[in-house]
Amino acid sequence: MTAPRHLLSIDDLDRAGIERILDRAASFAEVAGREIKKVPALRGRTVVNLFYEASTRTSSSFELAAKRLSADVVSVRAATSSVTKGESLKDTVQTLTAYDPAAIVIRSPHAGAAQLVARWTDAAVVNAGDGKHEHPTQALLDVYTLRRRLGALDGKNIWIVGDVLHSRVARSDILAFARMGAQVTVSGPPTLLPRGIEALGCEVAPTLERLAEADVVYVLRMQNERMDEAYVPSLREYAARYQVNAARLQPHQLLMHPGPVNRGVELSADAIDSPQALIAQQVEAGVVVRMAVLYELLAGSGAGAPLVAEAAAEAVALA
Ligand code: NCD
Repeated sequence: MTAPRHLLSIDDLDRAGIERILDRAASFAEVAGREIKKVPALRGRTVVNLFYEASTRTSSSFELAAKRLSADVVSVRAATSSVTKGESLKDTVQTLTAYDPAAIVIRSPHAGAAQLVARWTDAAVVNAGDGKHEHPTQALLDVYTLRRRLGALDGKNIWIVGDVLHSRVARSDILAFARMGAQVTVSGPPTLLPRGIEALGCEVAPTLERLAEADVVYVLRMQNERMDEAYVPSLREYAARYQVNAARLQPHQLLMHPGPVNRGVELSADAIDSPQALIAQQVEAGVVVRMAVLYELLAGSGAGAPLVAEAAAEAVALA
């Protein structure tokens, strides 16, 4: 697979493509440990962050990633209500195109929004979450976090538990974990497991009875903002059957969650605060992985610019 121009879906990457980004991210981890956390790779280039939906981790880490690559960064946050039609998104993108951005990072409540933006601009487009569809950089940082802990994902048993139906993270994670050789099982109330999800490369388990088989337990947030009807009788009932807590978690299992966590709903406080939880490591990985994504799209070998070794040399020169 040649280097993609955009990152809209995990499907844009094969295993080698994922590994290339993660190796690049590992090389940037050293930069994150320095007092001056910057490399000049994107100096003089502009990155536009366009967020039409609430975000803490994703927006802050994309901004930091672009700044640490020395890009000029414009962050636009629009209220969800101001963009309900494709036309107004198109107008916004055309307006921002006047700045000649090298990349546009877009988060939208609408599935397929990033794909549309890619049609309207010459910039590289990064999908930072489009509705219930995908969140590829989250999946990459999740794989990065697990690779650092486990070495490789091959043959590992990963359970994704909770509101799979409304989760773009689940879709991207299933694709990415499976591509990296893991066995993926999704579990949750049948009303929150989309029909046909197996086609992405996972098994389905409607109860947590076999949870002990998992090496990694990846818990999803109950996405109340995307629920227009009652999918579970009550959050209490949901927690009774599906909450991942110290009683359900085995000592050998690693625990992940994309954040933000509903404490006491999908995860108990004791699980969140246990040493098995990798939640903080996931957030930390967000910056270097997003640096790697921007670097690969804008300055990577596919774009005819310097390779990692040269970037590292430049970084040393700047330090
Ligand atoms: C996720 C998202 O917004 O898709 N959060 C994130 O990006 N870290 C998951 C969620 O909102 O539950």
